[in-house]
Amino acid sequence: MIDLENVCYAYENEIALRYVNLHIEEGESVIIQGPNGCGKSTLIRLLNGIIFPSEGKYSYKGNEITEKVLKNNSFAKWFHQQVGYVFQNADTQLFCSSVEEEIAFGPVQMGLPQEVIAQRTEDCIRLFHLEKLRNRPPYHLSGGEKRKVSLACILSMNPEVLVLDEPLAGLDEKTQEMLINFLKEFHKSGKTLIIITHNKQLAKTLGTRFVYMNEEHELVEQ
Ligand SMILES: Nc1ncnc2c1ncn2[C@@H]1O[C@H](COP(=O)(O)OP(=O)(O)OP(=O)(O)O)[C@@H](O)[C@H]1O
Ligand SMILES: [Mg+2]
Repeated sequence: MIDLENVCYAYENEIALRYVNLHIEEGESVIIQGPNGCGKSTLIRLLNGIIFPSEGKYSYKGNEITEKVLKNNSFAKWFHQQVGYVFQNADTQLFCSSVEEEIAFGPVQMGLPQEVIAQRTEDCIRLFHLEKLRNRPPYHLSGGEKRKVSLACILSMNPEVLVLDEPLAGLDEKTQEMLINFLKEFHKSGKTLIIITHNKQLAKTLGTRFVYMNEEHELVEQ
């Protein structure tokens, strides 16, 4: 499903990925670990088509993901619906004037019928217990509330692959538990998970495969 072949990436002078090879099959739950600055967030920004390899090749379901193919609107729509990405910093992801609107945004973009949009929005609001926040502007919420809203936004698009960067950071215990249970169900339903985490408990509970990035920005299977 996901194929990275000898992928390199550098920010101006800063190397972040060095000849990364990674093949992920549908239904895997891959945990990515490694020290600060090794390139984990860079790797998943690339998986989500936000940045592109400086060298090497990234394919999703046999389609090479390049800046050029993502300029094609219908392909970009399909791809971003397939691969859902929750940023490490939720602030960069929220821009609508209410939580409700924010959660409906993806389904609206996908051109789904009004009833489906309303249903999905309600389901996600309920799942994350966001009822009291539904009319508030997302950028005035607390850090943990923002995280819940960004997760709800991605899940409302019903992605095939869910890519999470430190999903438990900043969440209270009850919300962490709820999210872990949700991710277990998501994986059980045959979907693919890619998770960056320093949390050993989360890794153990959800991982079916473990990869490690080292300080040389190389990826190693464990
Ligand atoms: N926008 C940027 N411009 C220049 N260098 C960057 C940029 N973003 C990241 N880097 C550098 O690229 C390398 C990889 O960064 P990345 O954010 O992928 O690390 P990470 O493994 O996610 O770290 P952390 O565990 O701290 O989140 C680091 O050396 C970092 O300083
Ligand atoms: Mg990171």
